[in-house]
Amino acid sequence: MASRIAAVALLAAVAAKAQHNYSSPPYPTTTPASYSTTTFNFSAASTYLPLTDFSNEQLAFLWDQVGPIQTATLTTTASPTPEPTDFPKPNFVHPLVPAYIPEVADAKLPDDFLWGVASAAFQVEGAVDAEGKGPSVWDLIPHRWVNSIADNTTGDVAANEYYLYKQDNARLKALGIQSYSFTLAWTRFFPFGRGPVNEQGVAHYDDLFTDIEANGIKSVVTLFHWDTPLALFNSYGAWTSEDIVADYVNYAKYAIMRYDKYVTAWYTFNEPQYCNWRFSNYPFGTILPSYNGIGTGGLRAQYLCGHYTLLAHATIYKWYKNVYKGTKPMTFKNSANYIIANSSSAADQEAVQRVNDYNMGWYGGVWTNGGDYPASLKDTLGDILPVYTQAQKDLIAGAADFYAIDAYTTLYAAAPPNGIAACVANRSDPNYPQCATTTQLQPNGFPAGPNADAGATWLYSTPGGVRPFLSFITKEYFPKVKSIVVSEFGFADPAEASFNTLEQILWDLRRADYMQSFLDNILAARVLDGVNVTGAFAWAIYDNFEWNSGLGTKFGLQYVNNTSYERYPKASMFQFLNWFKLHGEDKTATANITAPVGKRMPSMLNMS
Ligand code: NOJ
Repeated sequence: MASRIAAVALLAAVAAKAQHNYSSPPYPTTTPASYSTTTFNFSAASTYLPLTDFSNEQLAFLWDQVGPIQTATLTTTASPTPEPTDFPKPNFVHPLVPAYIPEVADAKLPDDFLWGVASAAFQVEGAVDAEGKGPSVWDLIPHRWVNSIADNTTGDVAANEYYLYKQDNARLKALGIQSYSFTLAWTRFFPFGRGPVNEQGVAHYDDLFTDIEANGIKSVVTLFHWDTPLALFNSYGAWTSEDIVADYVNYAKYAIMRYDKYVTAWYTFNEPQYCNWRFSNYPFGTILPSYNGIGTGGLRAQYLCGHYTLLAHATIYKWYKNVYKGTKPMTFKNSANYIIANSSSAADQEAVQRVNDYNMGWYGGVWTNGGDYPASLKDTLGDILPVYTQAQKDLIAGAADFYAIDAYTTLYAAAPPNGIAACVANRSDPNYPQCATTTQLQPNGFPAGPNADAGATWLYSTPGGVRPFLSFITKEYFPKVKSIVVSEFGFADPAEASFNTLEQILWDLRRADYMQSFLDNILAARVLDGVNVTGAFAWAIYDNFEWNSGLGTKFGLQYVNNTSYERYPKASMFQFLNWFKLHGEDKTATANITAPVGKRMPSMLNMS
């Protein structure tokens, strides 16, 4: 058999050579027996790259794939510096933005309403190759995918939180912030995504958790915020393969078993809707390998990613509740916006439904359809959409304790110009498969609200949308949801990166205005509309690396000086804190993260 293969290979090699017109014969007519030969065709690779070598050399190989890493000047953990008892802040000559909704001016939130600021490991930590960490795909992207980051910055140093967390935690305490929503980097625990645990990475997070607790701050923790181990991409394409489920579960179990006692609420995943706009666009076939028949990415990659993500979520949720007997609330964070029909036509109403289905409904099997996908996905996508078995649907159904929504903005939806039916029937239609268009313009052409930075063109300040959105999710779209947390909301003021002085940066009026109005609307949803909203988290703790936009698009409630790494609270931070001073802490009530608020009160506001 072996000699037959050798003979075939030899013939193939000779045939291949024959196609070339080499100009300087004579060549040897045979390959000396001391050489073996074959033909190569990388696109015919059908098996995964085995991932069994967890050596230092293999780790160095992975970092070499990323390229040279920038390091910060500060590379040891900084001790906390004394925080001021009173921070410089706005005064009467330009006071904070006044309240928007008089009906809730005196309303209080229950004492256990979860609130605070949020971040994500890749966006703030820096120190990306320190202390045994393996690269994630997000370490690779800014280095190797030319011009994929608008300002060509990387996350190598980011806000250098890896070394500055003690100061950051001390400042959160000094500011009086109740909770911190942050994420863990999988590759600090498992540099290759699986294999041996990296003790230095664990020691770092041990210290982070104990320091947050020592400062009296509650930890709300996300296990995965898009920073997939690069080794898993190399090995089998990461989220396009079912293998990812076991690797994610292995990592998640480890982190949960170690840190559950510190954690107030768990998120298994940040915004799995990222499969839409990121996983389908990763540079498969060029910078990343292209396994699983996904070619250069696109729809198949996107829906495989979503499929295995929800399976991974459900698997760890059921393990946490049924095997580990965990008692903390657990769910995943969703990315979706409030959608308003562009007109009263039936087609535009259907467009609204489709936009919701293709964002929230895609992962809505936990609350609807017995664990399955919505009909509008199954009917339109056909064989592009993977199929859940009955056992998998049973696993998914009911696999969360509450709903978490990153509800940044509001959009208007319309049926596409050629109609929904024509789009659904044509996989090449530019609006396929959602087959609905969205805009930030009202039907009369006026913008829905003030725009954000050019690095966040999807974002307009439309806080009035969050109130009906919270009602819509919990009363109409997913009536099984018993409580909802606004797990992120935030704003990037236009052109903030072009301001050169602190005086230009610190009075961030649009963000402050957004904070006040957004929070007023969340409160109105709770006390006037009877929605059981049990938490709210502002994005972000401070300026950080905004994915494809880079360091120049700023969402922070604190400014970060990217040379000294000093942080300065902006006006929006005081707007946010002042709001919780006024509305926080009704010691007699409880937020009740899983139960309804009680009687639904009629809205006192005319929403028209
Ligand atoms: C939500 C994402 O979770 C976060 O990573 C991102 O920075 C913000 N949206 C702003 O775009």
